[in-house]
Amino acid sequence: MRPVIPHVGSLMARRPGCLSLAQGMVGWSPPAAVERALRELPLPAAHRYGPGLGDADLLAAVRQELAGLRGLDLEGSEVVVTAGSNMAFHAAVAVICDPGDEVILPLPYYFNHVMAVQLAGGVAVPVQAGLIPDPERLAAAITPRTRAIVTISPGNPTGLVTPPEVLAAVNRLCARRGLFHISDEAYAEFVHGAVPHRSPGAEPGSGGHTLSLFSLSKAYGMAGWRIGYAAVPRQLIEGLAKVQDTVEICPARPSQRLALAALSAGPAWCRPRVEALGRSRRRLLAAVAEAQAAGLPLQLLAEPDGAFYALIEVASTLGAAELVERLVLEHGVAVLPGGEFGLRGRPGAAVLRLSYGMLAGAELDEALGRLFEGVRRFTPR
Ligand SMILES: Cc1ncc(COP(=O)(O)O)c(C=O)c1O
Repeated sequence: MRPVIPHVGSLMARRPGCLSLAQGMVGWSPPAAVERALRELPLPAAHRYGPGLGDADLLAAVRQELAGLRGLDLEGSEVVVTAGSNMAFHAAVAVICDPGDEVILPLPYYFNHVMAVQLAGGVAVPVQAGLIPDPERLAAAITPRTRAIVTISPGNPTGLVTPPEVLAAVNRLCARRGLFHISDEAYAEFVHGAVPHRSPGAEPGSGGHTLSLFSLSKAYGMAGWRIGYAAVPRQLIEGLAKVQDTVEICPARPSQRLALAALSAGPAWCRPRVEALGRSRRRLLAAVAEAQAAGLPLQLLAEPDGAFYALIEVASTLGAAELVERLVLEHGVAVLPGGEFGLRGRPGAAVLRLSYGMLAGAELDEALGRLFEGVRRFTPR
């Protein structure tokens, strides 16, 4: 598996002025408190190694956020700070999997989850369980080698918020079958519709088998500072500490100071920004409807209500990967091919993932215009 983001990045470098509906980032900068914290970094402590699982004050703030705001049942859990939530996922599967152990990834998956499981010597098992995963179909995929089930809500690449009762059912399934539930909640703040986001780790008694992974990258516009945090079952903490010690030694200490400042700004700071994204979402939905009305053979796989993604399927003479290359190089707009998320599309059709996190207003309209014009060129006559 070739990492897709660097590949699309190298294509974009060949097409100056290319607009990106590809990478999962937001367009905003972190809270002012983060910039203040940056100017006031406590030196020389920030130059030195710190505790492997994170600095004590940030861990305390994280614990408070998880137990308070998110209502997690931390009985049986420990908290840990990592270099982004990708690092937490990587460390988790490295600890959970012996070679050949299986991790169930409902389709569509997030490509880095597949790569992390493979790096850990495990087997990623994609399961067709519906865009909102059906717990019974997940149950049917469990084998004696299964160690964990992964959910992502709000979803990448689906842009769907999984209803709390479904996440709770997956969580109970994991408990019953002696599995870990790895809940990727990088987009926890990004809800645009009626379905709320609720951590499955908030289910009473879930702490001993649930890994709840969070990120500062999206909500606080801090992707480059590489900080995430997680609640993990206590039985895993020794293994996780070993991975952290070996891979990161400690999370970057200057970034941890900034993370503390970001958490103090809290979700109230994120809310108006997420609302603005909601307006971009509506713009995207309107543009799709307009393109359909104009006869373009494309459809949304589902109406997105979370994160900042949408999946479209379009009748195409090209496969999704080639279509994406031509869109970048010949039309100046980047999206991601569905195949990277395990979505093959129907014969004669290509699935594309659109991210509306980075563009807004006229720029978003321009990018969508380029996309639909490009796609039209490759529809069957
Ligand atoms: C589902 C999901 N998890 C994790 C990440 C990575 O987050 P972080 O920057 O905290 O490593 C992403 C980034 O796109 C994501 O989509």
